[in-house]
Amino acid sequence: MRSRTALLIFRSTLAAAAVFTVAFVSGCRQDMQNQPKFIPQRGTTFFPSGRSVRPEVLGAVARNQLDADEYYNTGLIDGKEQNALPFPVTMTVLERGQERYNIYCTPCHSRVGNGRGMIVERGYKPAGNFHDPLIAAKPLSHYFFVMTHGYGSMPDYSAQIATQDRWAIAAYIRALQLSQDAPLADVPAGAQVQKLSEVSQQAGFAPGFVDAWTLPQETNVPSAGEMQSPGAAKAAAKTAAATSTAKK
Ligand code: HEC
Repeated sequence: MRSRTALLIFRSTLAAAAVFTVAFVSGCRQDMQNQPKFIPQRGTTFFPSGRSVRPEVLGAVARNQLDADEYYNTGLIDGKEQNALPFPVTMTVLERGQERYNIYCTPCHSRVGNGRGMIVERGYKPAGNFHDPLIAAKPLSHYFFVMTHGYGSMPDYSAQIATQDRWAIAAYIRALQLSQDAPLADVPAGAQVQKLSEVSQQAGFAPGFVDAWTLPQETNVPSAGEMQSPGAAKAAAKTAAATSTAKK
């Protein structure tokens, strides 16, 4: 009698354990995989068209993709660059442009815009000098266009810098150009003007510090021939050793 009860208890425990295991395991499968949903590109009987992918609502525009103002978005009118900012230039715009310029452009173009940023100093292709008469003569939207699409070995910055900020940087480049190239006639009558060389010497810089900078003739990037893999270098050394032994 006793052993029977024990057996019964054992059996029911086993059954409970089995039920629990099944419930637990299937519980794990109750993940998002089992929810009602449409798998991309699969058909459905739910919509009359048989397509699970719904067509776009007519006239819908993805956020930030409204291209209403052609010049603002492309920097071009009838395919041509223009010498105009698409919105009024204010001190706020210039300050924003300066801040963005210092973040994104100075590594190559330097803070003064002479194209001698740190990356160029370390061997990158010399970046454009904004005080070069050829580049300075370009219409304002040229700078916007270059930032948007890249130029030669310069990558584009459209993903990193919003449209509004690209224009702000273009406006700041103009201010930068003026800062290095303002004639005395631009100074309001009666204003005291100090020469840049005097200012820099007072700040403790060497006398020639503000003189025109020249780009290095050669960069310190090794040529393809100089860039040998360690294996190739070893092989070359071996050949050299073999030749010298043969000579003996
Ligand atoms: C990674 C380095 C690098 C950065 C960062 C960079 N540039 Fe350049 N930029 C260059 C190089 C290199 C050139 C010259 C390209 C060539 O001639 O192939 C150049 C050229 C230019 C030119 C001259 C185009 C012409 O008509 O000759 C402009 C304008 C310019 N960059 C603007 C900018 C602005 C604005 C920024 C910041 C948003 C910027 N660049 C950031 C490397 C850079």
